[in-house]
Amino acid sequence: MTLSRRSMLWLLGGIGLAPLAASGCGPGQLPGSAGGDQVDTVGRVAFDRPLAIPPLAPSSHDGQGRRVFDLTAQTGRRQFLAGRTTPTWGLNGDYLGPTLRARRGEQVLVNVHNTLPETTTLHWHGMHLPASADGGPHQPIAPGQTWSPSWRIDQPAATLWYHPHPHGQTERHVYRGLAGMFILDDDQEAALALPRRYGIDDIPVVVQDKRFGGDGRLAEGEHLATGLLGDTLLVNGTLGPYLKLTTQHVRLRLLNASSARVYNFGLADDRRFALIASDGGLLPAAYQTDRIQLSPGERAEIVVTIKPGEQAVLRSFPPTLGTSRQMTSIAGGQDAFDVLQLRAASTLARSAPPPERLVPVPRLEPARAATTRQFRLAGRQINGKKMDMRRIDEVVTKDTTEIWEVTNQHTQPHSFHVHDVQFQILSIGGAAPSPPLAGWKDAVYLPPRVPVRIIMRFADYADPDHPYMYHCHLLFHEDQGMMGQFVVVEPGQQPGAADGGYNHSHNH
Ligand code: C2O
Ligand code: CU
Ligand code: CU
Repeated sequence: MTLSRRSMLWLLGGIGLAPLAASGCGPGQLPGSAGGDQVDTVGRVAFDRPLAIPPLAPSSHDGQGRRVFDLTAQTGRRQFLAGRTTPTWGLNGDYLGPTLRARRGEQVLVNVHNTLPETTTLHWHGMHLPASADGGPHQPIAPGQTWSPSWRIDQPAATLWYHPHPHGQTERHVYRGLAGMFILDDDQEAALALPRRYGIDDIPVVVQDKRFGGDGRLAEGEHLATGLLGDTLLVNGTLGPYLKLTTQHVRLRLLNASSARVYNFGLADDRRFALIASDGGLLPAAYQTDRIQLSPGERAEIVVTIKPGEQAVLRSFPPTLGTSRQMTSIAGGQDAFDVLQLRAASTLARSAPPPERLVPVPRLEPARAATTRQFRLAGRQINGKKMDMRRIDEVVTKDTTEIWEVTNQHTQPHSFHVHDVQFQILSIGGAAPSPPLAGWKDAVYLPPRVPVRIIMRFADYADPDHPYMYHCHLLFHEDQGMMGQFVVVEPGQQPGAADGGYNHSHNH
C-alpha cells in the first residue's frame, strides 16, 4: 500500500464523499492491533520523553489591585521529532503558552502582545466576561500591537483555556501552537480534598494531534471533511511523554486542543477513574467511569489512582461519533492513540481519594426560560447562514435565561460552543444527559440528527456593539463560516451595527 488512508482522503478533496479506504500507516503510527477491525490505527509511541509542564504565568499587581499577566505571541522552532526542526508559534515561548491562574473575585488584566507577522486574536474560552474582552474575531491584534483586556473573574473554579480566534484563520493559528490553559480557583474547590499541586499531582494535559511533513513542518494544508486530522499526538507539546508520579492520586486536567479530532480517553488496562469536572467546573459528585470522550475545545478533570511502582497508560480509544461507518472512518472515529504514560515511584505519598460529594450545581429551570431558539447546523452554515462579521444573528436580553435547541442536520460530526456562558444540557435526543454531560458545559458534541437542548443565563454584561460568538468548535468548520454572532442588550435596547472586525467607525 503506497498511500495512507488520510492522504487518499485528502486527494479526494475532503468533501465527505470519500470511499472507505483500508487502514493506513502514516509516519509515527503502527498498524492497528487492539480491537480488531473496529480500530483503523493505533498510534503507539515509545514514551521516552518527560512530559513538559507549561509554566505558571508570572503575574504582578498594578495600582488598581489587578492581577496582570503578559503574553507575547511569537514565532519559534521546536524539535518534536529527533533531528527535524518544526517552525512553530507560541506564547512566551516556542510552542503553546503558560498556564494562567486566577481566583474568583479577582480583577485580571492580560497584556497580549503580537510579534507575529500577521494579525491574530486571543480568546478566553469558557470565560464569563464582557464581550469587548472576549478576544473573538472583533478584537484583532495587529502585528506589533498590544491588546489589554481586563475583567473580573466571577465563575466557579474550572479548567478554561485560551486560543486565537481570527475569523477564517483560527485553525491554522491554533495548529501552529497558540493555546494555553487558564485555571480558575475558588473557595469551594479549595475546601475539597483534591490533588492541587500544579505539576506534581495536578497536571495540565493539553492533547493535540499533528501531522508532520518529511521536513518536520506541520502539514497544515491537509484538510479532511472535518479539518486537520493528525497521526501523531503531542501532550503539552511533548511527543511520547511519560510522567513520574510521587502520590497515590493524580488529577489530570484534560483539554482537547485539537482542530477536529474527538478523543475517548481511558486507561489502557480499563481501570476506572473519578471524573470530577467538566468544561465549566466541578460536578456535583465524582463519577466513577472508565472513559471520557472530549470533542475539540472540551475539558474534563479526572483523578487517577495508582499503585507504587506501577506504569499506567492513558489512551484514546475509538470515540462514539454517531455517524455512518464511512464518515466515522473519515473523521478518525476508528483511531486509537497512546497518550501519556504514568510512572509511579516505588513509594508513593499517601493521599485521600477524591471525595464523592463535590459542589452544589444548581439546576437552571426550563420553566424560567424567556425564549427557546433553534439552531440548525448543516453544510458549513447555522440556520442557513454563513458567518458574517457585520451581521448580528441573535439579540439576547441581559439577565434572562434561554433554551437553545441545537441540531446537527448534517452527516458529518459537528459541535456547538457558546461564548460568555456556561450552559447545562437539558436533553440529548430527548433523554437526560449522562453524568459527565450534566455539569457546567461550554461546548458539546453534536451527533447527526440528535437535537441537543441547552439552557443558560446571560448575566451581568450588556453591550449592543460587541457580539459574542456561537459556533461549531471543529476549527476548520468554524473558519469556513459555521459560526454566528449574538449581542446581549439591556431590556428594550437595540443592537448596534457590528463592525467588520477591523474598523470601529460605526454609529451608536
Ligand atoms: Cu474556543 Cu469561539 O472558541
Ligand atoms: Cu470560546
Ligand atoms: Cu462542524
